[in-house]
Amino acid sequence: MKILMVCLGNICRSPLAEGIMQHLANKQNLNWHIDSAGTGDWHIGEGPDRRSVRVARDNGIDISRQVCRLFRTSDFDTFDQILVMDRNNLSNILAMARNEDDRKKVSLLLIDQIVPDPYHDDRQFKPVFRLIEEGCRAFIAKYK
Ligand code: 4NP
Repeated sequence: MKILMVCLGNICRSPLAEGIMQHLANKQNLNWHIDSAGTGDWHIGEGPDRRSVRVARDNGIDISRQVCRLFRTSDFDTFDQILVMDRNNLSNILAMARNEDDRKKVSLLLIDQIVPDPYHDDRQFKPVFRLIEEGCRAFIAKYK
């Protein structure tokens, strides 16, 4: 399965989601490919936010080599599932969908819950890590 994680900047939440989902899938010997992208273009080409790199490393996951990129329409063709962090991401991605097949691939990572943007609050990175991990575990339990 190919899964794309999406947030706004592609430097805080979706790099964590990519790293955590890939880590958990690998541990279960699932042949899953995980990537991430953003809907905003401010950080293209940069690595993840150092606070995300740190909380991932503290949990045994290296996300430091990821590179920020923008979501593109062809991602609807490349990926089976597009998992977004919050409702702004959801409406931004759905606005780019070309048809019902595209729309069906898009959902919130967490059911009826958002992963809040931690960019302006250092204290949010740990709880955001836990929320994303919870969402990834639930997703794997459902789709493995
Ligand atoms: P992310 O957080 O969407 O979790 O990567 C953000 C990072 C940067 C910005 C916004 C959100 N920004 O406006 O630069």
